[in-house]
Amino acid sequence: KPKIIIDADTGIDDALAILYAVKSGKADIVGITSVFGNIPVELATENTLKVLKLAGLEGHIPVSQGAAQPLVRKVDVFPTFVHGSNGIGDVEIPNTAQRPVDEAAADFIIRNADELRGELVVVALGRLTNLAHALQKDPELPSKIKHVYIMGGAVRVPGNITPTAEANIWGDPEAADLVIKSGLSITLIGLDVTLQTMLHQSHLDGLKTSCKSENRDVVGFLNDSMQFYFNFYHEADGYNQCAPLHDPLTVLAAIEPGVVQTEVLKLSVETQGEVCLGMTVADLREKPSVGTPVNVGVQVDAERALELLLSAF
Ligand code: BDR
Ligand code: CA
Repeated sequence: KPKIIIDADTGIDDALAILYAVKSGKADIVGITSVFGNIPVELATENTLKVLKLAGLEGHIPVSQGAAQPLVRKVDVFPTFVHGSNGIGDVEIPNTAQRPVDEAAADFIIRNADELRGELVVVALGRLTNLAHALQKDPELPSKIKHVYIMGGAVRVPGNITPTAEANIWGDPEAADLVIKSGLSITLIGLDVTLQTMLHQSHLDGLKTSCKSENRDVVGFLNDSMQFYFNFYHEADGYNQCAPLHDPLTVLAAIEPGVVQTEVLKLSVETQGEVCLGMTVADLREKPSVGTPVNVGVQVDAERALELLLSAF
């Protein structure tokens, strides 16, 4: 089983990704680190803790709070229209007595990388600020981490927050640039594949009748929180009762080999431009020379992805 730290800005699809990861039984979740993004970091921490309690795991998985702001920029507005003002579709779930650990996310990542001796896998589902801080503190980190799966970027498709940029990269382009250039072994799961992987209301309806009885509350929460996400995608893109599985697909890529096909591409992150800020630019020329080689998700077996995801509940 891969030993995984999930780094999340726990919004609606992050919550599903976390619930899938802990319910799949196919990964050892070493801890979860939080980051600003969909919501302020304190709320991301709180949502993570509550989601773990809902999964019956209160006190079992350490949660470490991370960055409240990007590496060099400032943020004071959050996309409440995408994830709701509480980040989980304005659905209320019970509070938990578990508190975050007394160790910041960057230190938590560094310590676990050391202790797990080359076995640690990081799955990053938000801005890459925590990983960037960890790299700044420990330049040896790339040789200590087995692999990093990143939900981010749009390589051959348009962006989702600007014409060219995907939200997680755009939200801290300097951090993304640092991480991509760091020498970490990386797989980028971007909009190229996540937009092909759609969760429909019919999937949730099926799950309500087929899920294990112990997962009824979890599935109820997924159904309720997804309503907010479906509405956003309806208004933004005209989708009908469905939404792309950005973060869940990234966890799937980490624990289910073969679901996402990748290709090594030389990649750069635009940090200077106005129209192209946060764009993930692959050198697609015959003889690519610009950028850092990373594995990029280029194709997905979406049917298999959905089947695996749903069967965890
Ligand atoms: C990414 O942005 C966030 O809204 C989602 O949680 C996902 O990580 C998609 O661009
Ligand atoms: Ca996310």
